[in-house]
Amino acid sequence: RKPITVPDLVQKKQNQEKIVMLTAYDYPTALAMERAGVDSVLVGDSLGNVVLGYESTVPVTMDEMIHHIKAVRRGLKTPLLIGDMPFLSYQVSVSQAVANAGRMMKEGGVGCVKLEGGAEMAPQVKAITEAGIPVCAHIGLTPQSVASLGGYKVQGKDLAGAQKMIDDTAALYEAGAKLIVFECIPSALAAAITANSPIVTIGIGAGPDCDGQVLVVHDIIGLAERKPPKMARQYVNLFPQLEQAVTSYTQEVRSSDFPAPEHGFVMDQAVVDQLKF
Ligand code: KIV
Ligand code: NA
Repeated sequence: RKPITVPDLVQKKQNQEKIVMLTAYDYPTALAMERAGVDSVLVGDSLGNVVLGYESTVPVTMDEMIHHIKAVRRGLKTPLLIGDMPFLSYQVSVSQAVANAGRMMKEGGVGCVKLEGGAEMAPQVKAITEAGIPVCAHIGLTPQSVASLGGYKVQGKDLAGAQKMIDDTAALYEAGAKLIVFECIPSALAAAITANSPIVTIGIGAGPDCDGQVLVVHDIIGLAERKPPKMARQYVNLFPQLEQAVTSYTQEVRSSDFPAPEHGFVMDQAVVDQLKF
């Protein structure tokens, strides 16, 4: 299979083929996604919550993002790799936004960058796109703005909010974004925008009618203490198994049940016999 590009995803929308996206933060997870044939892998700034143990995505830095993007890059050949622009890497100025998006492509090898925000981010989207870096927009519940949103909750349920999302999507597409993530918006709104806009829509908590779906991989594999959020489906629950494996090892080292003879390396008894102390 040859590497998937942003134009390939636009073509999938036109063919009404669903687009499969997941987050990843490390090499083995990326390898599994390559083998499973997902279309696109997002190194999300959810890195902060799910892997680095921060309380939100706000503290995540460019260097942390690049570090994990490089690991994921090494595991992928085919899926489109998308790098998430962390908080304050693109809000301060258009030139900083282009420089940081450029780092993601140049150092991280991404084929697209993602940033949060509506029409107010159009100048950044336009400049990054014009620099030759495809942009995925992200509206609805935008976790980097959790302080202004007043918590993690569904967006765009009233007329004004829904209309703003339609207008934001149009402005972002006009500025050059070919893809957009809708996070936690009503299914009917996501369906209507998907049907009426050429932009490729990727939903998370946005219903079944988006052009594609994305989830945080830790939520689908249960690699977290908390229960998966409402919008996710959990396919395996790894955290209890991880804890059990660590508990068993702990007990077996303490009881000398581990290591067993087969875990060790032998030498000739004749050599042992000649050792002097
Ligand atoms: O950071 C992330 O994982 C994301 C997805 C939830 C879209 O932005
Ligand atoms: Na994100």
